[in-house]
Amino acid sequence: MKKVVLAYSGGLDTSVCIPLLREHYGYDEVIAVVVDVGQPEDDIKEAKERGERLSDMYKVVDAREEFVRDYIFPLIKANGSYEGYVLGTAIARPLIAKKVVEVAKEEKADAVAHGSTGKGNDQLRFDAVFRTTDLDLVAPVREMSLTREEEKRYASEHGISFETEKRWSVDENIWNRSIEGSELEDPSFFPPEEIFQWTVSANKAPEDGEIIKIGFEHGIPVSLNERKMDGISLINKLNEVGGKHGVGRTDMIEDRVLGFKSREIYEHPAATILLEAHRDLEQLILTRNELRFKEFVDRAWSELVYQGLVMDPLFDSLNAFVDKTQERVNGTVYVKLEKGVARVVGRESPNALYSKEVSFDVKQEQMIAEGFSMYHGFQSRIFSKK
Ligand code: ARG
Repeated sequence: MKKVVLAYSGGLDTSVCIPLLREHYGYDEVIAVVVDVGQPEDDIKEAKERGERLSDMYKVVDAREEFVRDYIFPLIKANGSYEGYVLGTAIARPLIAKKVVEVAKEEKADAVAHGSTGKGNDQLRFDAVFRTTDLDLVAPVREMSLTREEEKRYASEHGISFETEKRWSVDENIWNRSIEGSELEDPSFFPPEEIFQWTVSANKAPEDGEIIKIGFEHGIPVSLNERKMDGISLINKLNEVGGKHGVGRTDMIEDRVLGFKSREIYEHPAATILLEAHRDLEQLILTRNELRFKEFVDRAWSELVYQGLVMDPLFDSLNAFVDKTQERVNGTVYVKLEKGVARVVGRESPNALYSKEVSFDVKQEQMIAEGFSMYHGFQSRIFSKK
């Protein structure tokens, strides 16, 4: 009896993997696992119908809480962003892979599988986690170099049907919605309004903006407008409010790990608001030295996440540094949402390094600054006189 556990989404790629794993790879039992990281309910329902019918065993693992606590919160603390992308898919893949491995161990399976192609980043992210185990790794779509047309033909031969032909490839979780493929692959193609589902266009947003108040403790958002909220509810609420104001759209060219440039479209209202607010609060609280150094750490953190290398021991070390800095990141940030923009309009913290003593209004001996000024720009002064 050969058993394999597949990271299942319900889409075309992972659906054709099920019969392929039996027919082409000779597995006797295919276990399909959907890891819930906040995909739309309809997608999970559709995956369940298809997965139950096609596989020998079907499982849904609700990982939303763990996703927010152990992946999104650290991302906020590290101001996670890669070339301006809020790392939505990237941050979820290692968790999905981890949950699939857990099922494989419970079920004493021989192998784990994913449906990623050989072109994107996701294959690397799944593989990196899967290869930390002794389980065999199978990636049918990549190994067989299947094209979309071949997959569709194989699917219909195996009674796998999709009601509507999907024009775009969408990956969605609680943090981010990413849309790619089809005409969007042409970097000069303007994204049609229909691809956006979380955000309205800025010109459809209410004329009057709205100011929201976000409370942070140790770098983590804990309340909205003075109401304590758990992470999932807070992110969902900010996606809703931010989306209504058209906040959180990205249209970018991204450098994939393999080096290809790709055109990517993202929606992420909560991420935009929380990252803006968090960065601003750090600016009030951390020293200039800490901020400068943390920029490098944040960048290294984000690159590891983008590459799917969160098992690199460096990742733990970076998190240890980040956590140390976040001990003091407590306070409140006021963010104005208006016509597609989230702008911080006020902030306060008991740990602010801001001092009113240097205010323009306070009478103070100003000449003490002259000594400092005397040597400020010393080298350029010599240079300019040469
Ligand atoms: N470019 C992004 C990343 O590598 C998003 C990938 C989205 N994946 C998808 N199957 N639509 O993280």
